[in-house]
Amino acid sequence: MKSVIWENSTLKLLNQTKLPLRIEYVNCKTHKEVAGCIKNMIVRGAPAIGVAAAYGMVLAAKEFLEASNKNFMDKLYNAGELLKSTRPTAVNLFWAVDKMYKAAKDNEEASTMDIALILEKAAIDIHEEDIALNKSIGAHGVKVVPVGAVIMTHCNAGALATAGYGTALGVIRTAFEKGILEKVFACETRPLLQGARLTTWELHQDKIPVTLITDSMAGYIMSQGQIDMVIVGADRIAKNGDAANKIGTYSLAVLANYHNIPFFVAAPYSTIDMDMASGDEIIIEERHCNEIRHIQDVEVVPEDIHTYNPAFDVTPNKLITGIITDRGILAAPYEKEIDRLFSKK
Ligand code: MRU
Repeated sequence: MKSVIWENSTLKLLNQTKLPLRIEYVNCKTHKEVAGCIKNMIVRGAPAIGVAAAYGMVLAAKEFLEASNKNFMDKLYNAGELLKSTRPTAVNLFWAVDKMYKAAKDNEEASTMDIALILEKAAIDIHEEDIALNKSIGAHGVKVVPVGAVIMTHCNAGALATAGYGTALGVIRTAFEKGILEKVFACETRPLLQGARLTTWELHQDKIPVTLITDSMAGYIMSQGQIDMVIVGADRIAKNGDAANKIGTYSLAVLANYHNIPFFVAAPYSTIDMDMASGDEIIIEERHCNEIRHIQDVEVVPEDIHTYNPAFDVTPNKLITGIITDRGILAAPYEKEIDRLFSKK
């Protein structure tokens, strides 16, 4: 099931808020519609958001074809700013929009029609490259997966969160294809249940054995010696290796450390933010309180109770055993490795 489809100048996004109950695509014909879909998590997961935003820039270019070149570039810039304002933590969004704007800027003397065509090709490249990167992450990551592995994961870092195959689930898929995976424990991932709704659904479709647990069960299951390793995705990795990912990831890393269980982060180069020295600088998205006040549209919290709903947390590098990337597995000290492998993105 593809999370993002580009067809006849329309962006089709699998509506991830409806899964697994309904399989529905939302059609976007304008960049504003794409921005709305990113904000409302119709499309989610750092790489998938980046791919969607790239196509959002193509739609913007097609909307502004009649503008003069100067106006066209200004309007394209503003469209990029709108797309970037939707979700602050996933760096892939900013990376993709900046890359698209640069492709236009490098060709600003061309006709608006030609710039739109250049952007369409650039977005398709970003889309196709992401699948290849994930396959590469899988090939590198499988080297640290023991035979008969039981792997815990959090949120959804799979095909749904990317252009296909997945990052953390890419490693899991490769291990399954090689016959060395016993099973996956998926944490449900409160409050939006990406683990319960998406990861279980995605793995089950590929017949990969998966057991669902609530987030609060992770420590107990680790203490019972049932977990060989934890693999999660990332929304932004700072130069020192600190990694932002779905809220609850940091707790899992602390638990894994206590129980001497290897804890890996899997992500493509587009998730590494070379401008951020450490995780302290990463902006953490705070989402609407109704996500935690309600369960399936029923309000379960007494009135007048304060709520706080950060959507991500940062796992400090010292709790990360290794960062599995498309260019290899990084070990501490991360800064040196990141500089060596990623200074030329
Ligand atoms: O809020 P979401 O569902 O967009 O959060 C997604 C995650 O935290 C993923 O783990 C991360 O984006 C990596 S996806 C390959």
